[in-house]
Amino acid sequence: MDQTASDALVFFGATGDLAYKQIFPSLQRLAKRGKLNMCVIGVAKSGWNLEQFKAHATKSLETHGGIDPDAYKILMERLCYVDGDYNDINTFHQVRKELGEAKHPLHYLAIPPSLFAEVMDQLRIAGCATDARVIVEKPFGRDYESARELNETVQKSFPEQNVFRIDHYLGKNAVQNILYFRFANAFLEPIWNRQYVKSVEITMAENFGVEGRGSFYDNVGAIRDVVQNHIMQLVSNIAMEPPPGINMELFRDERVKVLRGILPIRPEDVVLGQFKGYLDEPGVAKDSRVETFVAMRLNINSWRWKSVPFFIRTGKNLATSGTQIVARLRKPPMIFSAESEHANYIRFQVSPDVKIAIGALEKSFGQGFIGHPTELLAATPPTPNDMLPYEELIEDAMVGNQRRFARQDYVEESWRLLDPILNANLPIRTYEPGTWGPPEADVLHGKYGGWTNPA
Ligand code: BG6
Repeated sequence: MDQTASDALVFFGATGDLAYKQIFPSLQRLAKRGKLNMCVIGVAKSGWNLEQFKAHATKSLETHGGIDPDAYKILMERLCYVDGDYNDINTFHQVRKELGEAKHPLHYLAIPPSLFAEVMDQLRIAGCATDARVIVEKPFGRDYESARELNETVQKSFPEQNVFRIDHYLGKNAVQNILYFRFANAFLEPIWNRQYVKSVEITMAENFGVEGRGSFYDNVGAIRDVVQNHIMQLVSNIAMEPPPGINMELFRDERVKVLRGILPIRPEDVVLGQFKGYLDEPGVAKDSRVETFVAMRLNINSWRWKSVPFFIRTGKNLATSGTQIVARLRKPPMIFSAESEHANYIRFQVSPDVKIAIGALEKSFGQGFIGHPTELLAATPPTPNDMLPYEELIEDAMVGNQRRFARQDYVEESWRLLDPILNANLPIRTYEPGTWGPPEADVLHGKYGGWTNPA
């Protein structure tokens, strides 16, 4: 790992949605922890001057987490702004000028993928790519071929060790805790396999629709928006073998091995849905066949997981919001009557609150061995000082730590799995908003006891 610290941060798409909701709040947090000792250059085409840009940043902070006076002051002192077109080389000469003495800038491309190639070429031509790092936002391509093409473009300007493919799920403490909890404790790994685990399910549910992002979403759909990245990262964390050390490549090797072990996904193991009313969303094509819901079964062909189905499910406008992973354990031999079929499980709740729960049976008061289900719960409440996912990941990129960023082989493997499904022209089933998606998704899971819905 090249540990030279970045000495400037340039972010493209500085007036966009991601910057507004995530990047400014993260920068203020970095400033608060003394990690923002560099100039921060926002680049966009809005016709604004620096004062207007700072006013925009201030509004972002007021609406997302609030202003911390000391950190805010530092951030405002560091902020610069370059207004210009990405197809105009002068924009990049201006960036180079603002970089001043900085020798190792970190460029964050918070822009649509269609602009990546142009921006990277211009950065190289203007001399901004030398000894620089780049953070690339998902989606990394829209299928296997385009992911490879995108990578070729990236590699023309930045060597792989300087490329950071960001997936904010890998910055979530709850997602890192899956690995920590698995490998830091003695009791889980001995049962974390096909002998004891009957099925694994992952639900990432959202009780809201596309929230004004119709034109983005209609080009993407649930598989590209969250399955290829966030959900596959959850599958990898749940299923991977312990790496033989915490060196970043060892982690990334294990993650990619999980994907390599997943058998081709059969069309009959996939249910796609679209919520009623999606076609009326602004920016959505009137005859759109884009999925806002997907449920599928994965099979991992490894010694550990053979014959254990992994069910994954995500959707917009579902009954509630919540992301969780539930691994159901096989039933013990019967001694008492009326044991519940699914009493034993391990549940990692990623959101809204972070929890790890072990499902168990305990005896109820009264005569006879009659029990009831309970959960043994580990729930650490959030504190105001908890780091934000983007804050952690930007800091990692600044010091060259790629452990929590997607490697190109991982990206390609995930598309290898999903391309056939994207091209299969599967039926899109309509579902009512506020439900758990099309009933066919329940049939998919039926034999294994049905989904566990987030509370
Ligand atoms: C984003 C997707 O990557 O993740 C959104 O584009 C989705 O559609 C979001 O809502 C979910 O992230 P989180 O952290 O709120 O679970």
